[in-house]
Amino acid sequence: MTSHDVTLEWPDGRTRTVEVDENETILEAAECDGSVLPYGCRTGACGTCSGRLLEVEGTRPPNSERAGDGDADVCAVDDAVAYRRLPRALKDRHRAAGYVLLCIASPRADCRIEVGSSVHSELVDNPWK
Ligand code: FES
Repeated sequence: MTSHDVTLEWPDGRTRTVEVDENETILEAAECDGSVLPYGCRTGACGTCSGRLLEVEGTRPPNSERAGDGDADVCAVDDAVAYRRLPRALKDRHRAAGYVLLCIASPRADCRIEVGSSVHSELVDNPWK
Protein backbone atom coordinates (compact mmCIF):
# COMPACT_ATOMS: atom_id res chain seq x y z
CA MET A 1 0.00 0.00 0.00
CA THR A 2 1.32 3.41 -0.93
CA SER A 3 1.58 6.12 1.68
CA HIS A 4 2.83 9.68 1.73
CA ASP A 5 4.32 11.97 4.37
CA VAL A 6 2.01 14.89 5.10
CA THR A 7 3.45 17.65 7.27
CA LEU A 8 0.80 19.63 9.12
CA GLU A 9 1.74 23.19 10.03
CA TRP A 10 -0.22 25.30 12.55
CA PRO A 11 -0.13 29.12 12.65
CA ASP A 12 1.69 29.04 16.02
CA GLY A 13 4.66 27.30 14.44
CA ARG A 14 3.91 23.71 15.51
CA THR A 15 4.48 21.06 12.87
CA ARG A 16 3.81 17.35 12.76
CA THR A 17 4.47 14.88 9.98
CA VAL A 18 2.06 11.97 9.61
CA GLU A 19 2.23 9.02 7.24
CA VAL A 20 -1.04 8.80 5.33
CA ASP A 21 -2.07 5.77 3.28
CA GLU A 22 -3.64 6.49 -0.08
CA ASN A 23 -6.90 4.94 1.10
CA GLU A 24 -7.29 7.02 4.27
CA THR A 25 -8.02 10.69 4.63
CA ILE A 26 -5.54 13.18 6.01
CA LEU A 27 -7.96 13.92 8.87
CA GLU A 28 -8.22 10.21 9.78
CA ALA A 29 -4.45 9.78 9.78
CA ALA A 30 -3.92 12.93 11.83
CA GLU A 31 -6.45 11.75 14.43
CA CYS A 32 -4.81 8.32 14.66
CA ASP A 33 -1.53 10.14 15.25
CA GLY A 34 -3.06 12.18 18.10
CA SER A 35 -3.31 15.50 16.28
CA VAL A 36 -6.41 17.61 16.85
CA LEU A 37 -7.77 19.27 13.73
CA PRO A 38 -11.03 21.18 13.29
CA TYR A 39 -13.87 19.39 11.53
CA GLY A 40 -17.64 19.44 11.25
CA CYS A 41 -19.59 17.34 8.73
CA ARG A 42 -16.78 14.99 7.61
CA THR A 43 -18.51 14.81 4.21
CA GLY A 44 -16.96 17.71 2.30
CA ALA A 45 -19.92 20.03 2.78
CA CYS A 46 -19.03 22.53 5.52
CA GLY A 47 -15.40 23.49 4.94
CA THR A 48 -14.48 23.43 8.65
CA CYS A 49 -11.58 21.04 8.00
CA SER A 50 -10.00 23.17 5.26
CA GLY A 51 -6.25 23.15 4.93
CA ARG A 52 -4.01 24.96 2.46
CA LEU A 53 -1.23 23.31 0.48
CA LEU A 54 2.10 24.99 1.10
CA GLU A 55 4.31 22.59 -0.85
CA VAL A 56 3.88 19.41 -2.87
CA GLU A 57 7.10 17.38 -3.24
CA GLY A 58 9.30 20.38 -3.78
CA THR A 59 6.83 22.35 -5.84
CA ARG A 60 4.69 25.21 -4.70
CA PRO A 61 0.97 25.71 -5.22
CA PRO A 62 -0.23 28.76 -7.11
CA ASN A 63 -0.73 31.88 -4.98
CA SER A 64 1.73 30.60 -2.37
CA GLU A 65 4.14 32.75 -0.38
CA ARG A 66 6.69 32.15 -3.14
CA ALA A 67 4.36 33.32 -5.89
CA GLY A 68 6.10 35.55 -8.33
CA ASP A 69 9.21 33.37 -8.52
CA GLY A 70 8.07 32.17 -11.95
CA ASP A 71 5.94 29.21 -12.90
CA ALA A 72 8.65 26.57 -13.27
CA ASP A 73 8.00 24.91 -9.91
CA VAL A 74 4.23 25.36 -9.66
CA CYS A 75 2.48 22.06 -8.94
CA ALA A 76 -0.83 20.83 -10.22
CA VAL A 77 -2.93 21.14 -7.06
CA ASP A 78 -5.42 18.51 -8.21
CA ASP A 79 -2.58 15.99 -8.51
CA ALA A 80 -1.68 16.39 -4.83
CA VAL A 81 -4.81 14.82 -3.35
CA ALA A 82 -7.66 12.54 -4.39
CA TYR A 83 -11.14 13.10 -3.02
CA ARG A 84 -13.53 10.41 -1.80
CA ARG A 85 -16.43 12.53 -2.96
CA LEU A 86 -17.09 15.93 -4.46
CA PRO A 87 -15.53 18.67 -2.28
CA ARG A 88 -18.72 20.74 -2.23
CA ALA A 89 -17.45 23.23 0.35
CA LEU A 90 -14.73 24.56 -1.97
CA LYS A 91 -15.23 26.81 -4.95
CA ASP A 92 -13.10 26.05 -8.02
CA ARG A 93 -10.94 29.11 -7.35
CA HIS A 94 -10.26 27.89 -3.80
CA ARG A 95 -9.19 24.45 -5.06
CA ALA A 96 -6.98 26.08 -7.67
CA ALA A 97 -5.37 28.19 -4.94
CA GLY A 98 -4.44 25.07 -2.97
CA TYR A 99 -7.21 24.72 -0.40
CA VAL A 100 -8.10 21.11 0.44
CA LEU A 101 -10.79 19.44 2.55
CA LEU A 102 -8.86 17.20 4.91
CA CYS A 103 -11.92 15.09 5.87
CA ILE A 104 -12.28 13.62 2.36
CA ALA A 105 -8.80 14.13 0.85
CA SER A 106 -6.16 11.41 0.55
CA PRO A 107 -2.64 12.36 -0.52
CA ARG A 108 -1.06 11.38 -3.82
CA ALA A 109 2.28 13.01 -3.00
CA ASP A 110 4.34 14.11 0.01
CA CYS A 111 3.18 17.58 0.98
CA ARG A 112 3.07 20.35 3.58
CA ILE A 113 -0.33 21.70 4.57
CA GLU A 114 -1.29 24.71 6.67
CA VAL A 115 -3.98 23.62 9.13
CA GLY A 116 -6.13 25.15 11.87
CA SER A 117 -9.36 27.13 12.06
CA SER A 118 -7.76 30.23 10.55
CA VAL A 119 -7.55 28.49 7.16
CA HIS A 120 -11.34 28.08 6.98
CA SER A 121 -11.86 31.70 7.99
CA GLU A 122 -9.83 32.73 4.91
CA LEU A 123 -12.54 31.16 2.77
CA VAL A 124 -15.65 32.72 4.24
CA ASP A 125 -16.81 36.28 4.70
CA ASN A 126 -17.44 37.12 8.35
CA PRO A 127 -20.32 39.60 8.65
CA TRP A 128 -19.50 40.24 12.33
CA LYS A 129 -16.04 41.71 11.99
S1 FES B 1 -15.52 18.56 8.02
FE1 FES B 1 -17.02 19.51 6.74
S2 FES B 1 -15.97 19.69 4.83
FE2 FES B 1 -14.59 18.55 6.07
